[in-house]
Amino acid sequence: MAANFLRLDKPRGCRAIEGRHIMSEQNKFIQTRAFRMETSEDHPSNNTENPTMGDVINARLGRRDALRGMLAVTALSSVGGLAGNILTAGAADAAHHMKSSFKFDEISHGVDEKHHVASGHDADILLRWGDALFENSPVFDPAKQTKASQEKQFGYNNDFVGFIPLNGAADNGLLCVNHEYTNEELMFPGLGRQDKANYAGMTKDIADVEMAAHGGTVVEIKKSGGKWAPVLSSEYNRRITATTEMEMSGPAAGNALVKTNADTSGTKVLGTINNCAGGITPWGTYLMAEENFNGYFWNKDGAASHPNADMLKRYGAPGQWYNWGAYYDRFDVAKEPNEVHRFGWIVEVDAMDPTSTPKKRTALGRFKHEGAETIINKDGRIVVYTGDDERGDYLYKFVTKGKYDPNNRAANMNLLDEGTLYVARFNADGSLNWLPLVHGENGLTEANGFADQAAVLVFARKAGDVVGATKMDRPEDVQPNPKTNKVYVCLTNNKYRGDRHPLDAANPREKNPFGHIIEITPNGDDHADASSKWDILVQGGNPAKPEQGAVFNKATSENGWFGSPDNATVDHTGRLWITTDQGSAWPKTGTADGVWALETDGELRGTGKMFFRVPIGAEMCGPCFNPDDTAFFLAVQHPASDGAKAFPGFERNSTFEDPATRWPDFKDDMPPRPSVVVISKKGGGVVGS
Ligand code: FEO
Ligand code: CA
Ligand code: CA
Ligand code: CA
Repeated sequence: MAANFLRLDKPRGCRAIEGRHIMSEQNKFIQTRAFRMETSEDHPSNNTENPTMGDVINARLGRRDALRGMLAVTALSSVGGLAGNILTAGAADAAHHMKSSFKFDEISHGVDEKHHVASGHDADILLRWGDALFENSPVFDPAKQTKASQEKQFGYNNDFVGFIPLNGAADNGLLCVNHEYTNEELMFPGLGRQDKANYAGMTKDIADVEMAAHGGTVVEIKKSGGKWAPVLSSEYNRRITATTEMEMSGPAAGNALVKTNADTSGTKVLGTINNCAGGITPWGTYLMAEENFNGYFWNKDGAASHPNADMLKRYGAPGQWYNWGAYYDRFDVAKEPNEVHRFGWIVEVDAMDPTSTPKKRTALGRFKHEGAETIINKDGRIVVYTGDDERGDYLYKFVTKGKYDPNNRAANMNLLDEGTLYVARFNADGSLNWLPLVHGENGLTEANGFADQAAVLVFARKAGDVVGATKMDRPEDVQPNPKTNKVYVCLTNNKYRGDRHPLDAANPREKNPFGHIIEITPNGDDHADASSKWDILVQGGNPAKPEQGAVFNKATSENGWFGSPDNATVDHTGRLWITTDQGSAWPKTGTADGVWALETDGELRGTGKMFFRVPIGAEMCGPCFNPDDTAFFLAVQHPASDGAKAFPGFERNSTFEDPATRWPDFKDDMPPRPSVVVISKKGGGVVGS
């Protein structure tokens, strides 16, 4: 049994960055061995010596004082824990006497083959991998999947979900869904995990299906007769894939760094990949974040002679997680050195025009974007918050030069091409400086390797290194709350914290296996200001185990705490909802991933409450509400995949023929299918009320 906890999966989506090695508390020796067996692509690439925060202990004490909303936080525990926040008998009961807007009865931690939702709610399957998106879509046949069929069907591994209302309706709109990556061992009969088999079973046809299963979906959905369903006849429906023609726009477009043999203009690029989270802009466009693009590039032997070999390394390329480079030269870093510079961007899609060309907005910088959430600043400018999901990488925001015009959609369509990208430096006194990444300023000069602003943006990570940004514990979704102007930063985990990445006030836990959530308060409610204040809202883990250093409000029940926050959303009354991605590390908490409601204000600040749970092996993505909060869209990604070996009674890796769950169809001839779920309240009304 113990040996089952050692699994050497290569990362594909962000889930496996942490989950590559199962870490069981009972098997510390296995964990040690696993660390020794790591290879370079599992390492964080930020080995700079950016300034640390001085006296860490004092800083943490300072932060403790700042946890004003917590009830009776106990004394500091040993190094590595901010504060042990131990539940006491009756504390959860006391929560019932406090005012909460979350009225649902929470579900329990646990793991099984099914999904679970809070009582009084329905969870309906809305769209599954392979479902038709057009009236002429072929019937899904997983045993005979082709590129042509996949291009007309819902893609794999749904992540971000956004909703754009049509004509202001709450019950009719465009659902925009990212398809982050593919699991060939669950998609194709008899194939197995190919990166473990030197891609022996791969063919160009299979790679083409994978490429067609990536990208995104725009699909009209409508509620009628009390049920949501896709509208297959809609003129808006489209698939975006790894081969869809796109434009490069903004300061890096046309630069020598993004020119290739196939595109000597440096302005045309094919496709988008590893689209994790994203955003919907106030003018109703769909932002797709390109995250772990490095894994799709090929030829490790050729990397050393790459003209920007140091930057390839800084971005972890070529990861060689897929073998597309064996069939397409553009994914081979030796044959087409600049193609890698054309990924790692935020892609903007005009979902209202299915013939529109998606644009890669280079002004927002190139890194492993988790998402891109926007807010209208009080002066009318748009601010986009975006994190770089890598251990020890940075948090960014982009402030547009122009102002949003609510009465002229066309005038907003290129707002994201001009503005200033900033990277965050967290100070121990609870302040935060946003450092501009502008060529010629703060050391971003030719002498330091930045020929122009395009170089600053293409190599934004290096620019962050130079200006002294704070290394974070994997910045995931960064969610502004327009009701309060607070911003929530999900930091998922970082096993190198305290080792390669020194402890600091904003990242205060050694190893940090459970992650934390930082709350940012812009000065004067001005998101464009160069400084903000910050605070830690919660620290993941079990509050009943002081050694874990978890921090939640004492009113949190034994099911209300969580680990590895990944995505976040706020509903239209300003309530915060968090989803988790523990990867294969779920045995550390004993629960599958899910959705937790999280209080942010008043006496209950920092109280979590479990609302939804995914089936074994899945992670929880895409939290999104429709405009009247009567529908809550959730994306169940990679069911049966992560940590199947630790699933009691299963204890082996899942395959197409033998998966840990066949969710959501539970038919013997149907593999598990990543799916979007829509939650409604029985009898109608606001979800979670
Ligand atoms: Fe794809 Fe960082 O989650
Ligand atoms: Ca994830
Ligand atoms: Ca994510
Ligand atoms: Ca979000």
